[in-house]
Amino acid sequence: MNKTILITGGAGFIGSHVIREFVVKYPEYHIINLDALTYAGNLENLKDIEQLHNYTFVKADITDQEVIMAIFQQYQPDAVIHLAAESHVDRSIVDPTAFVMTNVVGTVNLLNAARAIWKDNLEGKRFHHVSTDEVFGALGETGFFTEETKYDPHSPYSASKASSDHLVRAYHDTYGLPIVLTNCSNNYGPNHFPEKLIPLCIHNILNNKPLPVYGDGKYTRDWLFVIDHAKAIDLVFHEGKNGESYNVGGFNEWQNIDLIGELCKQMDEKLGREEGTAAQLITFVKDRPGHDLRYAIDATKINKELGWKPSVTFEEGLSLTINWFLANQEWLEHVTSGDYQNYYDKQYKGA
Ligand code: NAD
Ligand code: DAU
Repeated sequence: MNKTILITGGAGFIGSHVIREFVVKYPEYHIINLDALTYAGNLENLKDIEQLHNYTFVKADITDQEVIMAIFQQYQPDAVIHLAAESHVDRSIVDPTAFVMTNVVGTVNLLNAARAIWKDNLEGKRFHHVSTDEVFGALGETGFFTEETKYDPHSPYSASKASSDHLVRAYHDTYGLPIVLTNCSNNYGPNHFPEKLIPLCIHNILNNKPLPVYGDGKYTRDWLFVIDHAKAIDLVFHEGKNGESYNVGGFNEWQNIDLIGELCKQMDEKLGREEGTAAQLITFVKDRPGHDLRYAIDATKINKELGWKPSVTFEEGLSLTINWFLANQEWLEHVTSGDYQNYYDKQYKGA
């Protein structure tokens, strides 16, 4: 069936994989990538598919209510998959307002525009909001986040995402807007912006720079290969139940220090360096304020109801990721110049 799907944040890390998944798999759909191209948005991520007949790029800022309404009126999307966001916790600690503007106000602008153009006919319409496990707060050493876990965000980033999740549900409960949500754990893979732990360490190992480990390095994250997240979004978008949310995770918990150890080992092997070379770069630095101890997703619902599970092991996914970064060092150089470099210098003060 022909559909026009507006995907926000498609030039970013996860969004670019979602765009590729949809444009290639569904040639009958018209995919519109709406992105403001902030420091994190990069059209180089989509070079291989930008010529395809069913793909259109629109540069726009979701905080601009009038522009967003005009775009919805022009393209009349049947569905929205909303990924555009300010996504980096450390940046949210420095500048919370930018996160409220994009993640909260931007989401409301999209909800209002969808509501306005769908008001006469909700048949076949869907607003899929892509969110994070960080809305649930922090776990102790045991337990998992389920879809029923109470929201308890701690950082300005997670508070802004929690707020957007509540608004999406409120538009469903109040106006009957057809919605689904996905709350995913930490992604990694090709095109990951090198302000986040894994690509930052890959970049620093390549440049013999320190690997900054916050606090004691015992913080735990549940890592998922980004293409498996894109496939989960495809599945929930098409088969998820109206009004419901689905947790997505890798069944793959790592303490940061162990993850960095595995990364160093693989990097030494791939670069033909003596074992232990990269690990010498590990440097313990000041902790992140309000640092959440542990995230871990219980993905039973999406597994049992929709048959989703991760397709690669972490060791395989990490190897694929490192190979991609080694083969795309020009991409790394492009994104680490300019604006990002200014941010890096401020965050790590010359480390
Ligand atoms: P990213 O920072 O790599 O990309 C964000 C994209 O949004 C960029 O292309 C950027 O240009 C665009 N954008 C930002 N502000 C905008 C605005 N005002 N108007 C229009 N476009 C704007 O983010 P990501 O890591 O790909 O995350 C995508 C989504 O997935 C986010 O909503 C994030 O909260 C969620 N998420 C991320 C992870 C993760 O591990 N990265 C895990 C779970 C959920
Ligand atoms: O859990 C999902 C979330 O994962 C997403 O919603 C966010 O958008 C995404 O950025 C990610 O958030 P984290 O804060 O978990 O990711 P980050 O890569 O920034 O950090 C991972 C862990 O590594 C965390 O415990 C902090 C630590 N860390 C991070 C950096 C950048 C370090 O020890 N040193 C660093 O330099």
